[in-house]
Amino acid sequence: MGYSEYDMWLQGGEGLPPEPCFAAGPSLPPEGFRLTQDAEGFRIESADEAGRMYGSYALQACLKLGKQPDGSVSAPAVPERILNHWDNLTGEVERGYSGKSLFFKDGELYYDPGRIKDYARLLSSAGINRVCLNNVNVTPLSARLITDKLPDLAELAAIFRPFHIKLIIAVDFGSPVLLGGLPTADPLDDRVIGWWAQAADRVYEAIPDLAGFLVKADSEFRDGPAAMGRTQADGANVLARAVKPHGGKIWWRCFVYNCEQDWRDTKTDRPKAAYDHFFPLDGSFDANVTLQIKHGPSDFQVREPNSPLLGAMKHTAQAMELQITQEYTGQQIDLYALAVQWEEILSAAVSGTRTMRSLIGEEIGAMAAVANTGNDANWTGHTLAQANLYAFGRLAWDPSLTAKEILSDWIGLTFGTEPALREPLLGMMLSSRGTYEKYTTPLGLCWMVNVHHHYGPSPEGYEFSKWGTYHRADHKAVGVDRTANGTGYIQQYHPFLQALYEDADRCPEELLLYFHRLSYDFKLKSGKTLLQHIYDTHFEGVEDVTDFMKTWESLKPLLPESAYAPVAVRLARQLENAKEWRDVINTYFFRKTGIPDSKGRHIYR
Ligand code: GCU
Repeated sequence: MGYSEYDMWLQGGEGLPPEPCFAAGPSLPPEGFRLTQDAEGFRIESADEAGRMYGSYALQACLKLGKQPDGSVSAPAVPERILNHWDNLTGEVERGYSGKSLFFKDGELYYDPGRIKDYARLLSSAGINRVCLNNVNVTPLSARLITDKLPDLAELAAIFRPFHIKLIIAVDFGSPVLLGGLPTADPLDDRVIGWWAQAADRVYEAIPDLAGFLVKADSEFRDGPAAMGRTQADGANVLARAVKPHGGKIWWRCFVYNCEQDWRDTKTDRPKAAYDHFFPLDGSFDANVTLQIKHGPSDFQVREPNSPLLGAMKHTAQAMELQITQEYTGQQIDLYALAVQWEEILSAAVSGTRTMRSLIGEEIGAMAAVANTGNDANWTGHTLAQANLYAFGRLAWDPSLTAKEILSDWIGLTFGTEPALREPLLGMMLSSRGTYEKYTTPLGLCWMVNVHHHYGPSPEGYEFSKWGTYHRADHKAVGVDRTANGTGYIQQYHPFLQALYEDADRCPEELLLYFHRLSYDFKLKSGKTLLQHIYDTHFEGVEDVTDFMKTWESLKPLLPESAYAPVAVRLARQLENAKEWRDVINTYFFRKTGIPDSKGRHIYR
């Protein structure tokens, strides 16, 4: 197939390029493909239809990026690459920064079928093959997706199906009571077991290829088995057995912690919760249950260590959960290329010999992420945040990719490969995570955000609340001691990491205040005191954003106006945000300590 034929397909194609370039590749892995080029044109080999589709996208990307097919086999690291929407049936999106829901409005399924088709193509082109459309916080309205909304949902599933995307439904653990009128949702009660089995039969009759159910139970006021004296495994297994005859699965989230802690209580330590709840149950979950574990022990913070639960259970299927929507990471106002953070997460050690990356496709059999899309014209509010969705799909397919490779591809596919544009933009995106970290999360000190909405600084917003998120700063020191002498959280890690994290002199500096309580004059490797580091990074953060604005402005002639102007507006807002963080945090610590900035810059009193 020549370029012109290919161009025609690119303009109006239905997802697959013209037939002649396909070849059977029976020995290739499921969904995998091999792309080659010879005198006759391009060839896509695959063992199945999905591989043919992914190969077509890869060919399209090669052509746009001016790359030669290298003839190697490409196959996904994990069979399930899942997107979780947090959309409510009202049309609101929890933690959504890109408009309203693409799927729901006013209690009904409400969507533009053409747009959903584009969306399905968009997701599949990034490698995503499972999508949960509704929020894990299942409202009574959304709970009805598995009853009277099923015919409508089946129509939506049919739009995704040709793109090899299967739907997942988030269900309320309390459904037997809420929808079935039973007096209990106790997972060991025969009536409840029967109710779930019937519910699954009904759902699978409407959507036979549904991937399964997603459940947030015993978490942030959601119903769950613990309230009935049952274990998380009891809860997950009743659902697993209901969907099993249909080939379905259960994704059971591990975001279980005490969200009504008293700040005076210094023994309870929220990061310990997931491991404490789930590790002892290893081996008691049915085979079609996957535990969905947030990448860090806190809650999608800018900087936190990897969850010690990931990979720890040897007899339980696990998925890593990332958050693409920028709840704590700038809310699609501030620039934040998540690929950089995810590369760090995957590169981090889990023992003396293994990294998190090496667990993907082994102990960690699926990747999931919270969506950042909505009905805004550009899907993601901030145009450059499209790169985050793309990066998730690419990394779930191939965790060995670097942020640089992924972002470079994204820029090339979106704006073209002209180096005068690509290089500066790539530089800006690669440094964006570090910049946001500088003004929000010094040395792993989390949660200094405004309560509820989580944008902008409020150093003590969560300090006396019930959410278990404290930094306990006083005039001498800051941070929570999570060593063996403190809460003991570090002991949940592999001995190799325990040794590293326990010792403040060896602990990776970016995590120092996640694990340790340190005095403001603690000396960092740079020779600076901890306090001076906090001051410096907050000043630098503002300078970085000023540089982003200059870079973006310099790229104006090379960018479409539709991309240039809205991003410029957002960068200006980011600058305001960075200044607010700088001034609030620096003033906060100056007031606590009375120690001035060694460089004599202005800190408000
Ligand atoms: C965070 C977020 C909530 C969300 C929760 C979850 O706490 O703020 O909006 O419901 O995570 O992951 O379930």
